[in-house]
Amino acid sequence: MAMKQVANSAIKAIANSGSSSLLTRQLHASPGSKKIVGVFYKANEYFTKNPNFVGCVEGALGLRQWLESQGHQYIVTDDKEGPDCELEKHIPDLHVLISTPFHPAYVTAERIKKAKNLQLLLTAGIGSDHVDLKAAAEAGLTVAEVTGSNVVSVAEDELMRILILVRNFVPGYHQVITGDWNVAGIAYRAYDLEGKTVGTIGAGRIGKLLLQRLKPFNCNLLYHDRVKIDPELEKQTGAKFEEDLDAMLPKCDIIVINMPLTEKTRSGFIT
Ligand SMILES: NC(=O)c1ccc[n+]([C@@H]2O[C@H](COP(=O)([O-])OP(=O)(O)OC[C@H]3O[C@@H](n4cnc5c(N)ncnc54)[C@H](O)[C@@H]3O)[C@@H](O)[C@H]2O)c1
Repeated sequence: MAMKQVANSAIKAIANSGSSSLLTRQLHASPGSKKIVGVFYKANEYFTKNPNFVGCVEGALGLRQWLESQGHQYIVTDDKEGPDCELEKHIPDLHVLISTPFHPAYVTAERIKKAKNLQLLLTAGIGSDHVDLKAAAEAGLTVAEVTGSNVVSVAEDELMRILILVRNFVPGYHQVITGDWNVAGIAYRAYDLEGKTVGTIGAGRIGKLLLQRLKPFNCNLLYHDRVKIDPELEKQTGAKFEEDLDAMLPKCDIIVINMPLTEKTRSGFIT
């Protein structure tokens, strides 16, 4: 479902891409006909197992029919590296490049220089580290992401990782598949989540979803953010606001970072 939402948002972004407010580069082709290149991983046999699995070459993000019906040319490939790759062939005349964080099309300053028609770099998901943002800004390109598109997936993934780590699951799993069994080697550091103190640094979309998901586990929930969450949600989850991050950290058994990595936030953690 998350990928379908991404596809829908991608459609809207492309549909808007002729508007002068979104794009600052001049069109080199008529507004009605654009060359759109999608770079996704190949799903091979897995594509046939799920018709909703569109974030791959075969599924083409679910956009092909609509784009072609609008008169656009839509090329999809997984071949994105090196001077002879398929993507490189289309760089000089593409208008829109769609990519995903899991199989990113690296958009370097060199590629931007060659891409004279390029207007929109769209990430079907979150995160545009694969784009040289400075070069894109200098060239007047729009770099867009689908904000919020996979926040539920991330919150659920975080909950899963917390449980896996607290229960010391992975070493136990390895013992089983390698035919060993040493309960003490697992149990000495396997805990219940109940009663533990979990702190989220950042309580935006993902942080709030995590707090809601942790509530039934009867943990002590803390959060640090620039802003307090809605009092109703605070009451619902029992999460307590910690204005001072340094004061919150020693209280926590588990810490989850749910805020963006920027120059400012990086300096707070990574020294
Ligand atoms: N890689 C992925 O697949 C993926 C998917 C979803 C989100 N993300 C990333 O995870 C991060 C969180 O996502 P989100 O949707 O919850 O974002 P969000 O904007 O809804 O929430 C971020 C929170 O961090 C807080 N914050 C930012 N800087 C802060 C600071 N210096 N001190 C204290 N609080 C600060 C903000 O006030 C906000 O409440 C984002 O960076 C997002 O890009 C990555």
